[in-house]
This record gives sequence, structure tokens and C-alpha cells, in this order.
Amino acid sequence: MVKTINSIIVGVGFIGKQHIEAISRIPNTKIIALVESSLEIAKRNAAIYGIDYAFSDLDEALKLDHIDVVHICTPNFLHYEMAKKVIEKGLNVFCEKPLSLSAGEAIELAELARKHQVHTAVNHNYRANAMVREMKHRIQSGSIGRPLMVFGQYVQDWLMFEDDYDWHFDPKLVGPSRSVADIGTHLFDLIQFTMDQKITRVFAELVFAYPIRKKSDIVGETFSDVKSGETTDVEVVNEDGAFIIAELENGVKVSMVISQVTGGFKNGLELTISGSKQSLTWRQEQADKLEIGKRDSGNEILYADAKYLDKSLKRFIALPNGHAVGWADAFKNSIQEFYLEIMGDSHSDSKSSVDFEDGAYLMKLVEAALLSDQEKRWVTLK
Ligand SMILES: NC(=O)c1ccc[n+]([C@@H]2O[C@H](COP(=O)([O-])OP(=O)(O)OC[C@H]3O[C@@H](n4cnc5c(N)ncnc54)[C@H](O)[C@@H]3O)[C@@H](O)[C@H]2O)c1
Repeated sequence: MVKTINSIIVGVGFIGKQHIEAISRIPNTKIIALVESSLEIAKRNAAIYGIDYAFSDLDEALKLDHIDVVHICTPNFLHYEMAKKVIEKGLNVFCEKPLSLSAGEAIELAELARKHQVHTAVNHNYRANAMVREMKHRIQSGSIGRPLMVFGQYVQDWLMFEDDYDWHFDPKLVGPSRSVADIGTHLFDLIQFTMDQKITRVFAELVFAYPIRKKSDIVGETFSDVKSGETTDVEVVNEDGAFIIAELENGVKVSMVISQVTGGFKNGLELTISGSKQSLTWRQEQADKLEIGKRDSGNEILYADAKYLDKSLKRFIALPNGHAVGWADAFKNSIQEFYLEIMGDSHSDSKSSVDFEDGAYLMKLVEAALLSDQEKRWVTLK
């Protein structure tokens, strides 16, 4: 009989709901419980999604039998303490990014996971997009020639107005970095994953667009437009964006732009790898396409169809030609890859998910960027 993977979702805000929907698309899975900050919210969501158990306390939920994975979808400051509890129970954990508030916490979690021999993942979902996988395959197979340089950006506009303010501005809840930890880590991961190279040194200039922001009394969940009541002036202590240059292990140079204040860019994650024969560009807002840049003939746009991609990538495309793969598909793939790993059934030729050790390295990169900005110098990672 095929085993069912039983999961618990902790935090049912913007991203927790995406986890529920994604898991519902993966065969042989069951969400057995939800945990929220209040029992009322947990019960309401459990009723909506047809889930048996609802809790307001993770410790209570962890007493259930037959749990395979706990998904941590709460604000950043809770990741460390929640992941620690889950690992100490000997359970597998799928944690939202960034893994923790500091590299120190992340390293501790990675060590703990090794000791308890549990599977871990940080949700860097963009690497599970079919065209990103194809990009990696082409770079690694040498079809673009020798990689010459890399540039990318992660640009959004959801915090561009002075009165945009929510928990992401509170360093107690997100740590010392906002945009670099929040979206920069996705770009770091995409570059390291496709190039199969670590970023070894960085030079960063952080951008603070508004020294003071206006905080509403009432705000909704992430990306919602809910704002009302009086506003209070609050000093902004974490960055709205960053310009970062970096170098990979093999010496290839990288440039990155990160912004949460650029009008018109919604989820503008883009990456270009220049090779000596061709360049490759992937743009998240056109997630079903890979652009192949050529000099001696016309450029090509490769469409997400299993027929056109490397045959090992079939499982990343759920639907036939013309049914565009998008954000939600990569998100589902990200969870599915981790579940395959748990079942010992990963067909991937390279490690498919970001484990806690990789998540800790991403946190080191965040800290290196902050230190570089502070001390106006290159910071090398050890
Ligand atoms: N992978 C991605 O692309 C992606 C995208 C968005 C957010 N995220 C990450 O997901 C996490 C959550 O972000 P969000 O945007 O969903 O935030 P959100 O504010 O919309 O939702 C967070 C939820 O956690 C709940 N919560 C708070 N304390 C809790 C507790 N003690 N126990 C249980 N539930 C609790 C809140 O009530 C809320 O419903 C963050 O770490 C964020 O960085 C990842």
C-alpha cells in the first residue's frame, strides 16, 4: 500500500493557505491539523479546508500520532523555536524562509536536525519551477558555454508607499534585515542553485527609502490592502532594498538588485546567466518561459512543455502544452520534492530542496550583506 504523508500546518496567513492548497494537489497526502495564534482562527480554517484537528498551541498538536511533516508558516521570529520543537520530537520539518532571525540560530537548527536524523527544508520555492530546472540543466551540461557573468533582481512594490507598514518592519519579528532576508535569500538561492556554486563574497549597499513610515492601527495579512484608523510615525530600521555585488566559488561575478519599493514590479524575480555561447534569462512573472539569448541567430523563447525540456524534468510540469506553469506550480513542486525525499523516492540528480544547512548558509549571506554595508567593504564567507 502507498504510504500517506500526514502533515500539520502552523500559521494559516498568506503563505500557510498556499501550503494547504499545494498539498491538496499532491497525491497520498493528508493535512491532519492546523495551528494558529488563536483557537478560533484555527477552527475556522480547519472547517473551511475540511481538516480534522485545530490547535492554538504547537505542543498540543505535536502530541498527535502519525505526523510525518510539520510546515512552519508563521512570521520569521517563530521559525527557530518552532522548528526546534519539531526536530526534538524526531519529526521532519518544512519551514518558510528565511529559516531564522540569525545565522547562529540557523546553524544550531541544522546541527540539531543532523543529530535527530530528520529531513529538513526551507521553502525556496522558485528553484522548483520547471524553467529554472531547465536553466540549471543547460548551465551544467555546458550548452551555454563557459559562464561569464550573472545578474539578477528581486523587485516588488508592495511596500512603496510611506504608509505601508506591517510586521516585516519590526526587527524583533524579522531580524536585522527585511528585504535582503525576505526576498534577497530567494535570489541568492536561485543563483547558487542554477550555477551549482556558492556565493563566497559580497559587497552591499542597503537602501532606506523612508526613514519614517506611517503605521496604521489596523493591518491585514501580508500583501492585503487592509489599512485603517489613526497612523503613528515609526522609525524604519530595516532596509527597503539593496545593491549587492558578489563572487561565486569559481570566480564568476554577480550583480543583484533587491527592492520592495519599485512601482509596477509585483513579484519581479529575474535572473540572467551570460555564457560564452548563449545567455539564459528567466523572469518569474513569465514563469513558463526561458529566454535563450543568441548573437549569431534569432533569440529563442523556450516554452514550458515536457517535450522541450530535459526528460528528467517531466515531474515539474503537471499539465500539457498551453496550460502555463506558474508560481503555484513551483510552490507545489517545492513541497512535493521534499515529500519525495522523505519517502526516499527523490529522482533528482542534484539535491532538490534547500535543507537547513543550506538555509544557514543563506542566513550567513544576509549577515555578510549587512556587515558589508555597515563597514563599506567586501565580506568573505568562511
Ligand atoms: N516562500 C515564499 O515565497 C513566501 C512568501 C510569503 C511569505 N513567506 C514566509 O512565510 C512566513 C509567514 O508569512 P505570511 O506572509 O504568511 O504572514 P501572515 O502575517 O500573512 O501570516 C502569518 C500567520 O501566522 C499566524 N501566527 C502568528 N503567531 C502564531 C503562533 N504562535 N502559532 C500559530 N500561528 C501563528 C498568524 O496569525 C498569521 O495567520 C514568513 O516567514 C514569510 O517570510 C514565504
